[in-house]
Amino acid sequence: MENLIKKAANAILTAENVAALTGAGISVESGIPPFRGKGGVWERIDPMEYAHIDALTQDPVKVWKVLIKEMAALVGIAQPNDAHKGLAQLERQGRLKTVITQNVDGLHQKAGNTDVIEFHGTFAWLRCMQCDKRCETGAIDLSVIPPRCECGGIYRPDCIFFGEMIPPRDLRRSSQVSSECDLMLVIGTSATVQPAALMPLTAKSSGAVIIEINPEPTPLTEQASDIFLQGKAGDMMNRIGKFLKLEV
Ligand code: APR
Repeated sequence: MENLIKKAANAILTAENVAALTGAGISVESGIPPFRGKGGVWERIDPMEYAHIDALTQDPVKVWKVLIKEMAALVGIAQPNDAHKGLAQLERQGRLKTVITQNVDGLHQKAGNTDVIEFHGTFAWLRCMQCDKRCETGAIDLSVIPPRCECGGIYRPDCIFFGEMIPPRDLRRSSQVSSECDLMLVIGTSATVQPAALMPLTAKSSGAVIIEINPEPTPLTEQASDIFLQGKAGDMMNRIGKFLKLEV
């Protein structure tokens, strides 16, 4: 493993344009459960019943009660872990440019990354389902379910539900970042949800080196990863960081 870590660190040191794609796994060490696998959210909650856009439009109260409230509470208290901090340090060192994240927890920004594409939106903001007005989640009393806008409409989280499109601007930029980077760090994603899972393939086919960090192999491991670091995000970033002189 030490050799692989050294190899990954050297690849990062020699790269000129590093990007990262992150998923729920990077926030596990911050106390936020992943979606799939043991202890995952979708083990307890049926995503089609609570995370599909049709469920939200048909019965927003039911969705707010079960899924969103539970997650909003977690997101409010969670803090960045060593993996988020390591990526922020990589940006400060001028090595990492953009983080494409599937997470809605805002922890990359909290850690200090400034160019974060929130591919699946964010829980930090709400949007009125009637008039489209946006409002910070922190400014709304979530003990009243469903939260309502001044216009009387119901607020929804400003994230992407199943059955919804990724905003074209985010998709375009992510594809561009992926095709322009010469190294992509893929951290804590099961790489099963499209189109996010396409980004490492785009990077790979444009000649980038792919470094994957995950305790479990994913479809990407065989297909695209040049270096697979099997382990937890925070631990692996710390070990890479020793070679890169990162101070998390
Ligand atoms: N460090 C790194 N990776 C981890 C850790 C950890 N400590 N713990 C778990 N993982 C890995 C798991 O092995 C798994 O591969 O994180 C991954 C989490 O996978 P998912 O739960 O599927 O998360 P993600 O890939 O982000 O899901 C994509 O699916 O339901 C939707 O919209 C939701 O954005 C989400 C999307």
